Amino acid sequence: MNKKVVIVTGASRGIGAAISKVLANLNYVVVGTFVSSNETAVALKNEIEELGGTYIPVRADVRVSSDCENVVAEALNYGQVYGLVNNAGITNDNLLLRMTEENWRSVIDTNLTGAFLMTKAAAKEMIKNREGSIVNISSVVGLYGNAGQVNYSASKAGLIGFTKSLAKELGQRNVRVNAVAPGFIETDMTSKLSDELKEKAVQSIYLKRFGRAEEVAEVVAFLISEKSSYINGEIIEVSGGIAL
Ligand SMILES: NC(=O)c1ccc[n+]([C@@H]2O[C@H](COP(=O)([O-])OP(=O)(O)OC[C@H]3O[C@@H](n4cnc5c(N)ncnc54)[C@H](O)[C@@H]3O)[C@@H](O)[C@H]2O)c1
Repeated sequence: MNKKVVIVTGASRGIGAAISKVLANLNYVVVGTFVSSNETAVALKNEIEELGGTYIPVRADVRVSSDCENVVAEALNYGQVYGLVNNAGITNDNLLLRMTEENWRSVIDTNLTGAFLMTKAAAKEMIKNREGSIVNISSVVGLYGNAGQVNYSASKAGLIGFTKSLAKELGQRNVRVNAVAPGFIETDMTSKLSDELKEKAVQSIYLKRFGRAEEVAEVVAFLISEKSSYINGEIIEVSGGIAL
């Protein structure tokens, strides 16, 4: 049987690792990219394999198109490239007047251009197969904005436009494209926030707590799977209800 492979970028930790575990549990072969820590990637592989899943770590920087093409080439060794989760992302916060060009470019390059490069490489296979599902990890900040994050919010709002346009391009090839917009989720990314900012954030969330990576992963897995076969071009917020 031709196994269905799902590529997850930035998969070694946080939301990416949670997504990889849920997808592997649904019997997808997960090809997860990592940039720096080989050990974390191997630890995740062992954890998933102990539960009977398949996880293939591949080193790749999403800002580099040849790396993205290499991920797809690797994935093809394990089956059909069926899914892609553009999860890799960074923050580099500052107020506009203090934000350097490097702060701006680093975030746009990783969060937006990275998704473009990885999608271009993977979508070729999905179009050929007339089957596929792409999920982009945006953010509530891309929907509502956030002071101190013009670079990050522009990248995440960009992913929303990217999702909607690509859904229109690929729909007729039976490739669906959707996005998830998480709110505040407990990961390394939000651990950098000050206690004061975290407290303020919790007050703005109707559920009065940060979310868990698994709570985002379940929605992503639903959008990848055929359970969501008639959902295309949607942005699903996973934020516990938020008013930024
Ligand atoms: N944590 C939150 O509250 C939150 C909220 C909304 C959206 N998100 C988004 O969810 C995604 C995952 O974030 P997280 O919270 O798990 O953060 P995280 O920092 O734990 O994980 C980010 C992952 O991206 C990878 N990455 C960074 N640069 C890369 C590059 N150039 N190439 C390939 N991989 C790269 C990192 O190695 C890491 O594995 C990000 O896109 C983030 O913007 C997070």
